[in-house]
Amino acid sequence: MCGIVGYIGTKRAYPILIKGLKRLEYRGYDSAGVAMISDSGDLNVYKAKGKVDNLTEYCSDKDVSGCVGIAHTRWATHGEPSARNAHPHYSQSRNLAIIHNGIIENYADIKTKLQAQGVEFKSDTDTEVLVRLVEYIMEKKNLSLLEAVQVALHQVIGAYAIAIVDKRDPRQIIAARKQSPLVVGIGENEFFLGSDASPIIDYTDKVVYLEDGNIAVIRLGAELRVMSILGEEQELKVKTVDINLGQIEKGGYEHFMLKEIFEQPECLKNCMRGRINVEGDHVTLSAMIDYRQQLLNAKRIIIVACGTSWHAGLIGKQLFESLCRIPVEVEYASEFRYRDPVIYPDDVVIAISQSGETADTLAAIELARKAGAFVFGVCNAIGASIPRQTQTGVYIHVGPEIGVASTKAFTGQVTVLSMLALCLANERRTIPGEQYKEMVAELTRIPEKMEEALKTNEQIERLAPIFTYAKNCLYLGRGYNYPLALEGALKLKEISYIHAEGYPAAEMKHGPIALIDSEMPVFVIATRDRLYEKVISNIQEVRARGGRVTALVTEGDTQICKFADHVITLPDTLECFQPLIASIPLQLLAYHIAVCKGKDVDRPRNLAKSVTVE
Ligand code: G6P
Repeated sequence: MCGIVGYIGTKRAYPILIKGLKRLEYRGYDSAGVAMISDSGDLNVYKAKGKVDNLTEYCSDKDVSGCVGIAHTRWATHGEPSARNAHPHYSQSRNLAIIHNGIIENYADIKTKLQAQGVEFKSDTDTEVLVRLVEYIMEKKNLSLLEAVQVALHQVIGAYAIAIVDKRDPRQIIAARKQSPLVVGIGENEFFLGSDASPIIDYTDKVVYLEDGNIAVIRLGAELRVMSILGEEQELKVKTVDINLGQIEKGGYEHFMLKEIFEQPECLKNCMRGRINVEGDHVTLSAMIDYRQQLLNAKRIIIVACGTSWHAGLIGKQLFESLCRIPVEVEYASEFRYRDPVIYPDDVVIAISQSGETADTLAAIELARKAGAFVFGVCNAIGASIPRQTQTGVYIHVGPEIGVASTKAFTGQVTVLSMLALCLANERRTIPGEQYKEMVAELTRIPEKMEEALKTNEQIERLAPIFTYAKNCLYLGRGYNYPLALEGALKLKEISYIHAEGYPAAEMKHGPIALIDSEMPVFVIATRDRLYEKVISNIQEVRARGGRVTALVTEGDTQICKFADHVITLPDTLECFQPLIASIPLQLLAYHIAVCKGKDVDRPRNLAKSVTVE
């Protein structure tokens, strides 16, 4: 939530900051702003409501000189989206400017106390309170910026990644983090800041991921210093990042979402590479080697996640229960963390997260660890907080996902959960050796089958305009396809703003069937599996009420076309891997409907890719 960029060095800061903001727009685009110390020593702050392009337009006739600056793209929490509430925020004297990602929970108390001392405020944000507190402490106690930040951070409750500049000291940026991500890039006589490494990788691959409670003193001409809030120097852990630019650019597609949908066969090959042997019949996960006993002895698995990752977790539940015979609970991380759940030391908690920064999932991990459970992460973003706070885990390795609506991360997560379930099932001998080998072999064939499924793109593009009128849609599925119905509905809601519900097909008759009429598109995932005949009955129930059915079916199907208005044909695979294939037409459907409606597919309103607030 909110993107942070910073630069200090010998180059012009402005173009670096703007380019960085564009990379981070997925984190929020309610407003954008920059603060730069100009060549003549002024601290200029420019901000605009909306996307980064509005900011560049606003800056077109402004002084954007200077080699030090900080910039921010906002996802509003406190205060409506507006230029007034946009970051950076000045201190009262206008000597300091701050950017912030997170929430200062006790900002109202601090604000009241500062107001009583004569401090004035220009915005409704929690962030402005922090910079005004820092300045108040500097003046009142005659402290340096660094010392004042340390004192101020002791007084605030909440989550933050911040960067502050002081125009009286243009060779320094002070940055700090607690629960919100922050990365420092180290170049030749220059430093960069980013909420993730994407704004940095054009310039350097040397980065330091700040840990919770760390403050970074970024000073030109000096070594980077990292210390705790108490001032204790921390060892500098410099990492090399390995993301290439092609991975985060659109590569000829109109939108990141479409590119990411089409990348999935390649992504899943990367996800399986080195984990499934060349013969294609055995899975090895290093986490299974290093933590074999903890995983094999699991009496129960608890999956915690949010959004799309939670849907992947629901598929994981069916995989672990049916293949490994381990009971599984799937929890919304946001509920789990506040519910006082029963957690046993022999529980394995699997935290699933694309970004690895979701605040609720991180809090759920902390709770599980305190209760003594073994915590396993399934994450995409390398070096993010979740892989650092779990005992072990598996990266999904699908590359940076930029489109706000998650696509390739979902199929990557399901692939990793499938590999883990197969590994556990094989070791626990809960499936016969032959079945294990056949299943692994089938998993390796999924990328090829996804290529086939992607050929439905043109058909779906042609169908999409039919659905743009809809106010509501229903998605139905059973078994492994029920979580997929939820995911298909979520994709449509997120980017086309059409209300959609996912339902277990047989539950429809207990309520949603009342909604069905000829105005209501119903998408049914009706691939051939154990429940196929029953799904056909469910389709007939819809048709009998005048509902319009679009069905996803397995190639060779001759029955469903008799009842469905539209049929999308997919390659056959094992029931448990069907969601990997069937997710493709559902993603494409949501994409093309949103495009037909003229919506901003990659940056849907009110959403953010990485939700670092609770
Ligand atoms: C946000 C995103 C969703 C994502 C969810 C969980 O709501 O818009 O696409 O599924 O967060 O994010 P995570 O990074 O933890 O998977």
